[in-house]
Amino acid sequence: MSDNPPVTPVHVVILAAGKGTRMRSATPKVLHPLAGLPMLDFALRAATRLEPASVTVVVGHQADVVQAHLAGRPGVGTVVQEPQLGTGHALLQTEPALPSRDGTVVLLSGDVPLLTSQTLHALLAAHREAGAAATVITAILDRPYGYGRIVRRSGAIVRIVEERDGSPAEREIREINAGIYAFDLPPLFEALRGIGAANTQGEYYLPDLVAIYRRRKLPVATWTVPNAGEIRGINSRSELAEVNRMVRQQKNEELMAAGVTLVDPATTYIDVDVQVGPDTVIHPGVHLEGSTRIGAACELHAGVRIVNSTLGDRVTVLNHCVVTDSRVDAACSVGPFAHLRPGTALGEGAKVGNFVELKKTTMGPGAKANHLSYLGDASVGERANVGAGTITCNYDGVSKHETVIGKRAFVGSDSTLVAPVTIGDDAYVAAGSAITGDVPPGALAIARAHQENKEGWVSRRKAGKGGH
Ligand code: UD1
Ligand code: CA
Repeated sequence: MSDNPPVTPVHVVILAAGKGTRMRSATPKVLHPLAGLPMLDFALRAATRLEPASVTVVVGHQADVVQAHLAGRPGVGTVVQEPQLGTGHALLQTEPALPSRDGTVVLLSGDVPLLTSQTLHALLAAHREAGAAATVITAILDRPYGYGRIVRRSGAIVRIVEERDGSPAEREIREINAGIYAFDLPPLFEALRGIGAANTQGEYYLPDLVAIYRRRKLPVATWTVPNAGEIRGINSRSELAEVNRMVRQQKNEELMAAGVTLVDPATTYIDVDVQVGPDTVIHPGVHLEGSTRIGAACELHAGVRIVNSTLGDRVTVLNHCVVTDSRVDAACSVGPFAHLRPGTALGEGAKVGNFVELKKTTMGPGAKANHLSYLGDASVGERANVGAGTITCNYDGVSKHETVIGKRAFVGSDSTLVAPVTIGDDAYVAAGSAITGDVPPGALAIARAHQENKEGWVSRRKAGKGGH
């Protein structure tokens, strides 16, 4: 149950059709990520927490890309606005799509990601208490540049004027339009049709609805958000960076409050959906991305990047490792300078050391590959030891083949294992071997040229008698 259960059905509309010109990007603005999550998803998450009767996203510029991003989300519909003639025109397009003619529309902007669901509940409560037909979220800003300004007369809102259209005096107003509104449905669409486009941009401005409502004697209320940071809109890369920093900072605060040590939060980059267990220590320059989950009491040293991976408890990752789409069980040690590529799984207590690259490789509990190896499409049994410089030759130029290394097997340094090949349990491979055939369990395989020593060779050569 929400704190303020809405009395009438709530329909959320999210505007996401604009071109985002100021971003100068081939990617739609609303899909630019903040701490790993596209900004549109922030608005969607806030919307979902209102338990609305419907959610409609207005798409337009690169509609197919935004629709593909939203595909398969239950309860989220899209409406195409073509061409994009402004925010008022955008909302008008949802008229045929909305499932009912009564209730309240909560209008969100796809480029205002920090808005919380508490604020939306407060908006709805204020809207109901005032008995308003429309309620506008406003904020007081020190630097209101770029936002629409709230023009009041005798304390009551009379209209909203955009930055570009305002007089110098109006531009002095510090109360701004957050671009977030509640509208009672019955008078909405009729009034929207009354908006004109006589302004500097030739667009149908949704905020013009305020003046129209005033003329029609429909009550308009405002609700001023106490934390103005929440309604920051993103129009440029610079604002994207600034809001990104705010999102990361909030994530870092949450983790620290839950018992995670961040040695230097300012240089720690953790995506919003990442989970980290208590007593884990995270050093500077660490990036934790996507759906990554880190256990308790781990230590992640400087310069580590972990993407969509799961680490158990007490794992140590030494400096400058990259771990992607992998699983690392409890008490493992990884790095420094290790690369765990997709499909890697390390069993409890396994060790992967300096300059080791793993791809689609499973290491059993306690297995080790401590130095300078490439293991691809391999399965390494528990407590096996893979010597320095061991390479699995998994690719023959056409297809990939598997290497199986048995339990407790010992692969000598600088061996090449030409896949497909199996090294049996407890078997040994002599250092420097090129293994092209299976090694039975418990056997020693030696596959290298025999050494020949030529006694006295050096002195014979010096005496000019030839070095052969
Ligand atoms: C808008 C408001 C401004 C407010 C500010 C708050 C208008 C005219 N101005 O300005 O008063 O202070 O937000 O952040 O509404 N969009 C469409 N279709 C369109 C145009 C825009 O869907 O035809 C979408 C955009 O994708 C964006 C949102 O509407 O998500 C806001 O549009 P934007 O152009 O960013 O408006 P602002 O200039 O920021
Ligand atoms: Ca905007």
